[in-house]
Amino acid sequence: MIYFDNAATSWPKPEAVYKAMDHCMRQIGANPGRSGHKLSVEAERVILNARDALAELLAVSDSSRIIFAFNATDALNLGIKCILRPGDHVITTSFEHNSVIRPLRHLERSGRIELTVVGCTPEGFLEAKDIEREIRPATRLVAITHASNVTGTLMPVAEVGDILEKYDQVFYLIDAAQTIGIIPMTADELKADMIAFPGHKGLLGPQGTGGLYLREGLEEIMPSLKEGGTGSLSEKEYHPDFLPDKYESGTKNTPGLAGLGAAMEFLEQTGIEKIHRHEQNLTGRLLAGLEGIEKVNIYGPKDPGRQMAVVSINIDGLLSNEVGFMLDQEYEIMTRVGLHCAPLAHRTIGTAPSGTVRLSMGCFNTPDEVDYVCRAVREIAKKSAV
Ligand SMILES: Cc1ncc(COP(=O)(O)O)c(C=O)c1O
Repeated sequence: MIYFDNAATSWPKPEAVYKAMDHCMRQIGANPGRSGHKLSVEAERVILNARDALAELLAVSDSSRIIFAFNATDALNLGIKCILRPGDHVITTSFEHNSVIRPLRHLERSGRIELTVVGCTPEGFLEAKDIEREIRPATRLVAITHASNVTGTLMPVAEVGDILEKYDQVFYLIDAAQTIGIIPMTADELKADMIAFPGHKGLLGPQGTGGLYLREGLEEIMPSLKEGGTGSLSEKEYHPDFLPDKYESGTKNTPGLAGLGAAMEFLEQTGIEKIHRHEQNLTGRLLAGLEGIEKVNIYGPKDPGRQMAVVSINIDGLLSNEVGFMLDQEYEIMTRVGLHCAPLAHRTIGTAPSGTVRLSMGCFNTPDEVDYVCRAVREIAKKSAV
């Protein structure tokens, strides 16, 4: 079986992730940071370990600036909904995932914000100056993805960060769902005010994990999204206003964060640069193998230097779901078909409403698997009646 759906959730995970989660469930088990007994303290230590590792990855000196969430969507909602005020203007792009577009459209429809969606090219390229052109006095937030989950296209996030430095009133939120754990990045380099990320994709952790990096001082202007038990200041009826408790209430996903912590250790030992090089090589091999197959259309940059290990294709005469079904049933190749929760991106590349077949690779895929996938696509294309 070949798993080419890493852009949705990476799989398999490093062995240490399974072990850490099993250990946490069986040997620790308690509620973190609540009860003060040995197991509770140990559970809290598991969470701190994952938080510290993420802070180190993003070169953030204070790990309480990493707020845990249950996935990237959860983190994006926190960032978007807490920074915006009635009357604000927001700029985003036509390549965003629904986890950015839907919260923004929701706020727009309820009359709370105005939204500008900057168009990308059919390959998914964004001109940083197109973002600048849309900035108005009321602009409060620019929210863009680091890389497209449809075509893998890398966005000029650092360039946008440079531009936004000139505008004190504009905050910058980066959706790093497709890049964290694969491309080395620091919060300072990207000049980001907030970075939202999942734990279950490139970071190689389990589902149910994710987070938001918050730049210093933002907690002073961003209200909490949810209030509840934190295990801190329990005598007070009002929610704490310090980090990370301000934005984390209720029992955390301790087994998930144990897995994420172990995954971070794996990333550190393996080296993110090495993983990135490996994925770039696989992408180059896949693109070369698909190029020239009759009836196969490839979308996106078609350049491993300008995209992640995500390649969208279609075969003339077949719907994406028909191709995905054949890959699954006849070749045991797992892909994702359709719109990939990014309908605007598909409209931009001209593949709406039926979408594409997305082939997305991860650090455990091999060149042989890429060759097998190319052979399968060639055989399916041959059978197409067109
Ligand atoms: C670019 C992008 N942003 C956000 C998300 C949402 O991630 P999650 O499923 O962790 O909420 C995804 C998931 O595929 C994505 O690809």
